This record gives sequence, structure tokens and C-alpha cells, in this order.
Amino acid sequence: MTQVHRFDAVVVGAGGAGLWAALELARDKVNCAVVSKLYPTRSHTGTAQGGIGAALGNLEEDHWEWHMFDTVKGGDYLTDQDAAEILAREAIETVYELEHMGLPFNRTPEGKIDQRRFGGHTHHHGQGPVRRSCFAADRTGHMILQTLYQQCIKHGTRFFDEFQVVDLIIENGVCGGVVALEILTGELHIFHAKAVIVAAGGFGKIFKITSNALSLTGDPVAMLYRHGYPLEDMEFFQFHPTGIYKMGILMSEAARGEGGVLINDTGERFMARYAPTLMDLAPRDMISRYMQQEIAEGRGIKGGDYLYLDIRPESINKYKSAPGGKQVTEKELREKLPDIIEMMELYLGVDPMKELVPTQPTAHYAMGGMPTDVDGRVIIDEKNTVLPGLYAAGECACVSVHGANRLGTNSLVDILVFGRRSGRAAAEYVRRADYPTLPPDADAGVRAEVNHLFDNAGKESAAEVRRKMQDVMTAQCGVFRTGTGLEQVKQTLGELKTCYRNIAIQDHTKKFNTELLEALELGYMLDLAEVTAYSAAARTESRGAHAREDYPKRDDANWLKHTLAYKRDGKIEMKYKPVVISRFEPKERKY
Ligand code: FUM
Repeated sequence: MTQVHRFDAVVVGAGGAGLWAALELARDKVNCAVVSKLYPTRSHTGTAQGGIGAALGNLEEDHWEWHMFDTVKGGDYLTDQDAAEILAREAIETVYELEHMGLPFNRTPEGKIDQRRFGGHTHHHGQGPVRRSCFAADRTGHMILQTLYQQCIKHGTRFFDEFQVVDLIIENGVCGGVVALEILTGELHIFHAKAVIVAAGGFGKIFKITSNALSLTGDPVAMLYRHGYPLEDMEFFQFHPTGIYKMGILMSEAARGEGGVLINDTGERFMARYAPTLMDLAPRDMISRYMQQEIAEGRGIKGGDYLYLDIRPESINKYKSAPGGKQVTEKELREKLPDIIEMMELYLGVDPMKELVPTQPTAHYAMGGMPTDVDGRVIIDEKNTVLPGLYAAGECACVSVHGANRLGTNSLVDILVFGRRSGRAAAEYVRRADYPTLPPDADAGVRAEVNHLFDNAGKESAAEVRRKMQDVMTAQCGVFRTGTGLEQVKQTLGELKTCYRNIAIQDHTKKFNTELLEALELGYMLDLAEVTAYSAAARTESRGAHAREDYPKRDDANWLKHTLAYKRDGKIEMKYKPVVISRFEPKERKY
């Protein structure tokens, strides 16, 4: 029997975006629930390492306008500049508010928030790297999560932990809540609400090598798509240059911010050749491409598919690659990068203070997602029509503040700035909106899907379907793409979707049925992989993280526009909408 709950607002997801949205709702005395498939402090925000970008100028001159410029240029000019301006301006107050909530930032000797360099962040519009990332060692996301969760508890926010949202309730073009499966009992719950804020993170698990946690399967993003609404800019998926070899676990860009360098098989610091000004601190899309190029040209380590990250103090001091060319010590590095040093030791058996660390690009971040305006309201067409009652913020959303490629540290800014804005906008909306009528069969679709998975006597294995999806996405829809490769992805995914209808579930119990939940997640991921591949095949240019070998140049004349991909009557349809350009006209990207 499905239980029905009623809240003025429901937040889906308890990472940074969801928690800050919930905090705003609580401050505004809105009756709100946070529904999360994880215990909140296990959310993926907790894995964000290197910092949150804000032009505080604590160590050297900096301005929000330079931050905005870097965000626009880093995004290869697909960034909506109204959103980038908000991000860069509001980043500053956001960091100070976190400080006032008690977040333990690293400090300068004078007691100010310490800042470090990160890829693509520059002074004077690209003249050289700037220290803009505010950090708490390499545990910045973890500290943000703890700080915001404490604030929510203090404000009495109601949490439904380990409730997996399995459908959005959208009737007559208005969102009226969500359906969730309680993981402990296997029972369905309907959350009837005037406003739903989706803050459920990304979907890196569509790839084989990824920095994303197992939970990052993009469920509500796929649900919106299944309801016939568009997803924006899905072709743009970022690969972070330094994943732990073969595992994809993140080794923060902060390692290079502190002076670490990338090395090829000949011992060369090859980024000096490709990006003479920023070198190892060029934006991620570029570094990942150049790494792949080094590997393709035979300069991978021992001819293999990886390179080295070198953070040995003696190397940093030899290259003078630390900020200001200063000399670093092992003690300083261990203090600023404790977690990743431990991970290198633990997962690779390497002592990074003495040895080189095998690394390769890892699928890291979806620039695309649920289209929103700058207040988090979900929009459904190229005229920016709003879907009343539905909001999205953070990685699941596409506002689009990152354009074709996100800069490091801008994810934490995005989740907090736009999480807060969507919380405020939803609070204002619920004051004037009535409860939408709850359809009598709101959970019927989910029940049918679950029953199908339980009753199906099919012979296919979900694990095998997932493996093939991840393999083909990594091989043909990864750092480099071609038209032929993408056609192969489309075909393979079509076949896998047919197989998916015939997967069998072995576990027919209700409590903690993770096999069922993983099967549902696989269904969402197949949809997201499909829309990623179709959007990528349609975009016949290279821009940011979308690198087409058959169309190697950026083509502003034809492609300076956002993709909106819809699924209608079983077909995928592409529409496009213009990029918002305010201060910075598109230019060639050089670093
Ligand atoms: O490298 C990192 O610490 C990742 C940061 C980010 O994705 O913003």
C-alpha cells in the first residue's frame, strides 16, 4: 500500500545543492522534506577535493569579473553569461557564509581563508594562474556537506534517508511531487508537493572509468526525459585528467595547483608544449585531450595507456612549478593533500613523495542535464517556457553556467549558488501556488515497471548490459569521438535497450533489494547514454569537452547554440537555443 505524504516542497538529493536549497526553504518556514537515496553525508559532494572558486583576492589581486571571464572562456563560449556573472559574483558571499557557518577552511598566516591555483583560473583575463580556490585541505566537499547538514538539522529539516526517487509526478504540465521507493521496506511512497527541487547529482556511471560514485546514475534526469521534456547539452561530458590508473578515482587538480606536473614516457613535462602559459593548469578538457594524444603518439608510459603525475617535492622545486616558484616541502604537501596522498598509497601502492603516480583521464562531470533558468526553474523549450513546480540545481541541472567544459572548483560554487537560488525561488512559489491535483494513479507507472522486472523470465543479465554500455561509451563517446564511432554507440545502445527489457532479477524480496534498484538505475543510465550519444552525433564541431576527430574545429557560425534533446514517440528530436552573451564575445581559446 503506497503511503502518501504532503509537503509544500520536496528536495530530491542531499548533496550541497539539495542541502542549501533545503536550508533556504527552512529559513523561509516552508514545510519541506529532503528525500535522498543515500544517508545525506554520504552524498557525492563529500568527494569534492580541491576547493571552491571565489575571487576573494586573499593572496593576490583578483576580481569576480576575471572569474566570470575564465568561466566563459573555459566553457568554450557556450556558457550562458548571465549565469556565469551570477556564479562569479555570488561565489564570494557564499564562501563567507560557509565560513560563518563554521566551515574549517585552511588559513593564511594572517588568518584569512587560504586560496590555491586551479586549472583555467587566471588573472587579467588569461595572463597567468591566480589563487582563487578556497579549500579545506583536499576535503573541501566533505566539509561543505557536514557544515550544511548541521545547519539543516539545526533548522529542523525533515529527512527521508535511503528513499530512492523512482518517478516525478508531472500532470497537465505541472509538477506535483515524486514517487519514491523506501529502500528498507521496498514500499512505495508518494510525496505530494507544490514544488520539487531536483538536486540529485550527475551520471558518470554511464562510463567505465569514472571518478563518480556508484550512486551517480542520473535517475531524475532520465525521468524528466521519459516524461517527454528536453535535456540540454548532453553531448558535453568532462574527463578529469588525473584519475587513478584503471580505477578512475579522483586525484585532485589541487595536486597540480600545488606544483605537480604531468610527465610522459620520455620524462617530458609535455603540457609546456601545448599550453605555454598555464601548462599543467590549463582547463581539463584540453589536458585530457593532450594526454590522449601523447598516448596515441606512443608516449604513454612504457607505450601503455597512462601517464605520470609527479608531485615529488624535488620535482616541483626543480620545475619551480609551485605558486610564485617557491620551494615546497614534503610536510607542506602532506598537509594540503592528505587524502589523495593516502589514496595513491592505498590503491596504487605508490609513495607519491618519492615515486611517480600512474594516471589517466576519468569521466568526471556532466555539463548537460535538466535545463533551468538562473533561479533553478526547469524550462522545457527554446522559448524558455517554465515547467511550474519543478526546479533543478547542481550537476543534474544545466543552467548553463559551465558551457562546453567546467572549470575545476566551479562545481562547488554552482551547487551552492544555484542550490540557494532555487530554494529561494521555490519558497516564493509555494506561497502563491495551490497544491496541484494528485493523479489517482501517480505510482502506476513505477508499479508496472517494478512488476515487469520481478516477473520477467528473461535471460539477459543486468550486469552484462551495464558493462557493455560502459565499455562502448568509454571507447566511442569518450575524450575523442567520431561520427562512425557514435553511430556504433547508437546502435549498441539500441540493442542493449532491447536486452534490458529481458533482464531477470534473482532477488524477489522487498527489503534492501539492491538488485532491483540497480536494475532501475540501469534503465535510467541507458536513456542518458543514448541521449548523450545522439546529441554528440548531431553536433558536427569540436567545442570544450566534445572533441570530434572528424570535425576538429569549433564552428561558431553553425554551433554557437545549446542542444535540447527530446524523446517523442520513440524518436530522439534535437532543437537548439541561443547562448546568452553579455560581456565576452567568443574568441579562440589559447592558454
Ligand atoms: O580536481 C578536483 O579537485 C576536482 C574539482 C572539481 O571537479 O571541481
